[in-house]
Amino acid sequence: MINKKLVFSGVQPTGNLHLGNYLGALKNFTSLQKEMECIYCVVDLHAITIFQKPSELSENVFKTVASFLAAGLDPNKSIIFNQSAVSGHSELAWILNCVSRIGWLNRMTQFKDKAGSDKEKEKASVGLYIYPNLMAADILLYKATHVPVGADQKQHLELSRDIAQKFNNDFKCENFFPLPEPLISKNISRIMSLRDGTKKMSKSEESDYSRINLRDSADEINKKIKKAKSDSEPIPDNLKSLEKKPEALNLLNIYSELSKNNLEKTLQDMAGKEYSFLKKKLTEILVNEITPVASEIQKLLDDKSHLKQILINGSEKANIIAEENLKKIRDIVGLL
Ligand code: TYM
Repeated sequence: MINKKLVFSGVQPTGNLHLGNYLGALKNFTSLQKEMECIYCVVDLHAITIFQKPSELSENVFKTVASFLAAGLDPNKSIIFNQSAVSGHSELAWILNCVSRIGWLNRMTQFKDKAGSDKEKEKASVGLYIYPNLMAADILLYKATHVPVGADQKQHLELSRDIAQKFNNDFKCENFFPLPEPLISKNISRIMSLRDGTKKMSKSEESDYSRINLRDSADEINKKIKKAKSDSEPIPDNLKSLEKKPEALNLLNIYSELSKNNLEKTLQDMAGKEYSFLKKKLTEILVNEITPVASEIQKLLDDKSHLKQILINGSEKANIIAEENLKKIRDIVGLL
């Protein structure tokens, strides 16, 4: 069985999206929609694995769709919808819960990070533990072949491949589920916190100074970059000297990506200069990139009924594909 190329990815609606989401995922999403059939999902069921206030959750779904559109996703080219509107995600997740192994889930580092110490772990939701199985269901429900994500999702993608393979083997339906390929951009697959270069930039980090949000103003961007950790020595001319300077490396990486140069070229241009020089340039380029996105997000949020309609149209299209695949899956598993 040959599976046609299909892209699927998801983003959690748990607050404002940030530069890591933008460079690590959204930019890739928009370029892929030019070449392949794409499905992009606001994964609200994943979000509730950690308690969300109901009114904030629905607001965050709107914010996430608005960010998708402001970053360039086109609902006429890509299917855009929210996960809970297509019940097939939950149904397939249950079936895959029965295929996936406890030992596999025990190895997931993201669960360990989010659930905390052994004592704390006891209080984590069961949903958080089986989160990666739902992620596999998202992808396999559409038989997606390619999944654009940041590096932090690599292990979950590997698990999705293992689950797909085990399902195909257990039910003797070779190649029924394609083994999804992660699409991870090389240099910006992990944008780091502006305060601690060993941690990824994240929505859940307490300090807002650790990240650039897609809705930040020029003034906020300026302040955050000014405060960002860098280095007291001048910018070196080689990568090796940056090995133990993750914050400086992160700023140089972000600048290289946005100025469409590779890191080596940036180092050639900036060697010997102080980090204040890089920060000035970086602020300029970030303001140019982010503030138009921020004002587009705001404009879109002023018309929620338009966003709601996009989600309804998207979920109808997604549901057609999902139901067709689910019929075959129920049949393969032997469910009447
Ligand atoms: P989420 O919502 O945490 O992040 C959305 C996307 O942004 C990427 N990302 C980053 N990339 C680079 N640097 C960073 N600092 C950074 N932070 C986040 C993530 O890798 C992701 O691509 N489990 C997923 C959502 C999901 C999903 C799926 C993804 C649910 N089902 C199916 C792909 C396929 C998550 O929590 O992403």
